[in-house]
Amino acid sequence: MIEIQKTTESKIDKTNFDNLAFGQVFSDHMMECDYKDGSWQKPIIRPYGPLSLEPSARVFHYGQAVFEGMKAYKDKDDRIWLFRPEQNFERINKSSARMAIPEFPKEYFFEALEELLKLDKDWIKKGFGNSLYLRPFVIATESGVSASAAKEYKFMIICSPAQAYYSGEVRVKFSEKYSRAADGGVGFAKAAGNYGAQFYPTNLAKEEGFQQIIWTDANSHEYLEEAGTMNIFFRIGNKLVTAPTNDRILDGVTRKSVLKLAEENNIEVEVRRVSVQEIVEAARKGELKEMFGSGTATVINPIAGFGYKEQKFELPNMDDSYASFFKDTLMKIQYNETEDLYNWTY
Ligand code: COI
Repeated sequence: MIEIQKTTESKIDKTNFDNLAFGQVFSDHMMECDYKDGSWQKPIIRPYGPLSLEPSARVFHYGQAVFEGMKAYKDKDDRIWLFRPEQNFERINKSSARMAIPEFPKEYFFEALEELLKLDKDWIKKGFGNSLYLRPFVIATESGVSASAAKEYKFMIICSPAQAYYSGEVRVKFSEKYSRAADGGVGFAKAAGNYGAQFYPTNLAKEEGFQQIIWTDANSHEYLEEAGTMNIFFRIGNKLVTAPTNDRILDGVTRKSVLKLAEENNIEVEVRRVSVQEIVEAARKGELKEMFGSGTATVINPIAGFGYKEQKFELPNMDDSYASFFKDTLMKIQYNETEDLYNWTY
């Protein structure tokens, strides 16, 4: 059983749920579980608040940290749903293994989620687009700056009421120089540093008017891989194309759900390498009908245009948009508004 310390002063009345910037406000409670002496200790849920860590804690020096992104949704009858949470559980342990962090026990993960969501259920607002974004993460807390895996860690879950991740249209830049990940590296893991390393090139792209970068492979920069916060799909004619997952690409839960929905709805899919050249040519010929990103935070995010070198391309508005179809279908499942044919909800 998880120890629970309830807050005596909820922040919920001071929160404006109609105007939420992504990831800025946190709910009343958080889960914390320490690893020491070779095992995970008893988890505790306590009021959200600051941590006290040694300045020499490994996480500050070597970035030994991983995270996950999940969402809780409320249906019309006030029931709360998670979407494929076992996928996030498995992935955080895969990420941890790559970063030499000990695996977290499944029963702690699910018990913590359930208890947190019971306590903070009022932080989940109803309606498509509203959710409570859950951020499980692990950090190396052991003090000492010797460059080796820590023996002490903290597993935490914090919760943030969320609406849209991006406000407004998203245009992306195809990367010519910078890479997100390399073969044999940690691209497949949700390692904190994978994301931090994107900020500088993304800032450069923002100066040119783009919101995100589509990363190309580190060897040739000829193949499109993923965007920093999402996997990426292309619609060429009526065919849906996306890059295969590998060492460098995150195995997105939304990505695999889109692939399943495409298959079930007779949309032709090709999972294969996608070259920059192919997409630029398809755009020139008017065959590139759509691009969209998929991810927990963004769900399905249509891409309005892209840039490569000095060229800029705008994408058409499609009446039969695949992005809208997938978003709508996924949301109906996530908010329990349709039969869950695939056993995705929890
Ligand atoms: C998510 O979609 O949950 C992610 O992890 C992306 C994040 C960097 C916002």
